[in-house]
Amino acid sequence: MSADKIITIDGPAASGKSSVARLLANHLGWACINTGNMYRAITLGLLKAGVDVHDEAAVVTALPTIPLENVLVDGRNLILLSGQEVENELNSEDVNNSVSHVAKVPQVRTQLVAMQRDLGLAQPSVMEGRDIGTVVFPEASAKFYIDASEEVRARRRGDQGLSDSVRERDRMDSTRKTAPLMAAADAVIIDSSELSLQEVVDKIVALLPSRGVITSGKASSYAA
Ligand code: DC
Repeated sequence: MSADKIITIDGPAASGKSSVARLLANHLGWACINTGNMYRAITLGLLKAGVDVHDEAAVVTALPTIPLENVLVDGRNLILLSGQEVENELNSEDVNNSVSHVAKVPQVRTQLVAMQRDLGLAQPSVMEGRDIGTVVFPEASAKFYIDASEEVRARRRGDQGLSDSVRERDRMDSTRKTAPLMAAADAVIIDSSELSLQEVVDKIVALLPSRGVITSGKASSYAA
């Protein structure tokens, strides 16, 4: 798989990047890979195992015992913990409060980045997260960074009925030493505060040819 078959989407919590990535992947007929869910699944596994996620050494020791698997089903990556699908547990308050502590541990990132590269290279993929354009696929030619004001992002999480301290997670994700949240120097930055999801996807689709992504003949209509 070459760099023109990877689209990277990064951005802070609740910027809309997951929904945009899903719509875009559907439109292109590409796989959609949500890397935040991988960090969430490891966090969930650690919490279930009773590991103190604030204790980095304990996280590193427990890491090899967390049975995480990624499979692609209908173009979406499904995450299994001990062979069980756990998607409906990944956005719990406990996971929200713990995931940034786990995501800053270099050994966790090394393991997941390797998994993400393997998955992304297996088929044309839209991959979203925090460090996709900077660390996971720096060679990709189509990179996007979706942002939105803090107020809009907090409101979006509230509208989803989720309790999530977006500001604190962003602070930790942007200030950690390893692979902090940031836009790649060659990413297109899109502020989604005043845009609908559809408008963001339209902007990206319009920019793809100039970024070397050929979509003709593959694209279908948008669908969630
Ligand atoms: O996208 P999300 O909010 O579900 O991500 C959950 C957490 O995982 C986020 O706070 C930081 C971490 N993360 C990361 O460090 N790197 C990624 N590529 C994706 C997510």
